[in-house]
Amino acid sequence: MRDTTRLTTAATAVDPSQISEIQYALSLTPRQLPAWLLYDDLGTALFEAICHLPWYGVTRVERQLLSRHAASIVEAAGRPTRLVELGAGSGDKLATFIDAGWPLRPPLVAELVDVSSGALQASRLRLAALEHVELKTWPLSYEPGLQEVARSADADRRTLVLFLGSNLGNFDPPDAELFLRQVRAVLGAGDALLIGTDLVKDARTLQLAYDDPLGVTAAFNRNLLVRLNRDLHANFDLARFVHEARWDAEASRVEMHLVSLARQDIRIPDAELAFSLEKGESIWTERSYKYEAPEVMRRLADAGFAPTAQWCDTAAGFALTLAHADD
Ligand code: AVJ
Repeated sequence: MRDTTRLTTAATAVDPSQISEIQYALSLTPRQLPAWLLYDDLGTALFEAICHLPWYGVTRVERQLLSRHAASIVEAAGRPTRLVELGAGSGDKLATFIDAGWPLRPPLVAELVDVSSGALQASRLRLAALEHVELKTWPLSYEPGLQEVARSADADRRTLVLFLGSNLGNFDPPDAELFLRQVRAVLGAGDALLIGTDLVKDARTLQLAYDDPLGVTAAFNRNLLVRLNRDLHANFDLARFVHEARWDAEASRVEMHLVSLARQDIRIPDAELAFSLEKGESIWTERSYKYEAPEVMRRLADAGFAPTAQWCDTAAGFALTLAHADD
């Protein structure tokens, strides 16, 4: 009984090595929290719900681009037989892509990396229908995930790495470059990377996408406090925090904040933290950079890739960009 309980909590609890990341983020001005904290099991489910919101188009538009252009993407990527998805989520987009891109169903290997084991479980179910796909799942964050991916590389299989959902936008530009370089480092000549990025659009559309009228995004953001209360025995009073989304046109990013409605003392015993928040002070929980299509090509080139092709939905403002790892 006891062991079962511990196993269950292990899936959602915060790793001790990640405590220092939380301590560091909260020590910054303005105070921050790392965005990966948003994705415990409930957070992952809330994000899935966000993807169904009429105001959040990223997932729908990207899925459509992937199914519409799958054949050209597969061709341009040199007919890979090994697919790696970083931040795979539900596996739905990968299944859509494989279905449309390999109609003759040749044997493929798919490796999924995601911090949420709940998401990986869902993706196993979603991809189980594809009997020609051999599936490996890594319940890890990107960096250790990439190490496993490097270790399981197979010289006989050309690899395509997918980094979708505009997940790149969660990195500040220097970290984005570092991340792309890490991906580049685990690829061999002829391998490729496909990234999906949300593009700059009008402020009102962006505002609604990150502060939806149903309050799902607010719940997604505030759940982070629920998680810290549960996993680190923090004392956040949810009634005294509101969700706020801010579009910073200059920096070209949407920010999610948790704004304190009152002066209050916060304690997070399991992270050995105690601090106070002023009324109106916020904790910055996520950045989502928005790009211009040519800029994505440039950023890939800056990180050592050879950008090869781009598929855009200009009306919805989304781009899929393919880049090769050359020698
Ligand atoms: C999955 C991180 C790309 O930034 O758009 C959705 C997460 N946050 N609504 C994004 C998110 C608020 C999403 N990413």
